[in-house]
Amino acid sequence: MKRLKVLVTGGAGYIGAHTTVELQKSGFEVVVVDNLSNSSEDVIDRIEKITGERPRFFKADCADLSAFSKVLEEVGEVDAAIHFAAFKAVGESVREPLMYYRNNLQSLINLLQILTSSAKAAIVFSSSCTVYGQPDKENLPVNENAPLKKAESPYGMTKQMCEDILEDTAKAFKDNLKVISLRYFNPIGAHDSALIGELPRGVPQNLLPFVTQTAIGKREQLNVFGNDYNTPDGSCIRDYIYVCDLAKAHVAAIKRMLYESEMMEGNIEYFNLGTGRGLSVLEVISEFEKATGVKIPYKIAPRREGDVEQVWADPSKANKILGWIAETPLDEVMKSAWLWEQRLASDS
Ligand code: UD1
Repeated sequence: MKRLKVLVTGGAGYIGAHTTVELQKSGFEVVVVDNLSNSSEDVIDRIEKITGERPRFFKADCADLSAFSKVLEEVGEVDAAIHFAAFKAVGESVREPLMYYRNNLQSLINLLQILTSSAKAAIVFSSSCTVYGQPDKENLPVNENAPLKKAESPYGMTKQMCEDILEDTAKAFKDNLKVISLRYFNPIGAHDSALIGELPRGVPQNLLPFVTQTAIGKREQLNVFGNDYNTPDGSCIRDYIYVCDLAKAHVAAIKRMLYESEMMEGNIEYFNLGTGRGLSVLEVISEFEKATGVKIPYKIAPRREGDVEQVWADPSKANKILGWIAETPLDEVMKSAWLWEQRLASDS
């Protein structure tokens, strides 16, 4: 039987690489397009080590229409695409808004332009809980019907704008385009082989990489950004989801579009991907310490600008419709992040 082919843009990145592994494990043929702006080709070797199969890889920038089109001409028709390729650093997006708008919007527009010219297209979009901003108290945990609030950063704006672009394009191409937008909460952890994981450049902005770098002694101490929020222990609350669980949701979304598209509500759907459990920053620290036995020195620091106070997912729509659940226990997730950090240290 012919294998179905999935194009993964940004497939050498953190979530993209884990998703490529899950797709291959589920029998899909994967083609990765990545400009390696925040990753390296070494990740492709590591994916091959895990799955025994090297995904086809093209170094190209999706924001460059002619380069991207050439790749697709060479690859031929794909059955589906997952679009990860985007910049994602909130602080950087505030300093370099044009770079974010240009890259994140242009890449998606190019992908849509190329794929809508074929008879049938199915696209999974990598969105974020950032589209909800700070939900009102009565909307927590947040479900897909909660109102979208104006994003706090250009990065967040690009996710909202990309969803609008997808919505309009889905409307215009009712007969040949299917879209699923996955709104991730906070992805953490690494593949249990410790061959792929998050590779922050410079000082990590996200919490877990900072925690693991502090654990290994690369950072002196962790700053907890604020302990005077209106939460039980005063620190911010998020929904931390294991990256391999997240990756599996992409496979489920692809299968829905390819095999059960008649069950879709229209040709565009949205799903929250989270665990349903909110954890405060202080709880993350203590859960990490409990799982690994390593103490994290930390201090309370001022609030970080632009942070929302608390947000966690109601994932029941994804649980029910995609038949997917974030199943990995938190201690295993923490251990995977720690193993990855140790692996990085021993490689360097
Ligand atoms: C945000 C977005 C998320 C986006 C991500 C991209 C929201 C709710 N979430 O994640 O959608 O994909 O950026 O990077 O907008 N913290 C510390 N000390 C640190 C680092 C973080 O206390 O050194 C705290 C933060 O204040 C926050 C929590 O840890 O409360 C998580 O922070 P982070 O990992 O940066 O993710 P978000 O800001 O939630």
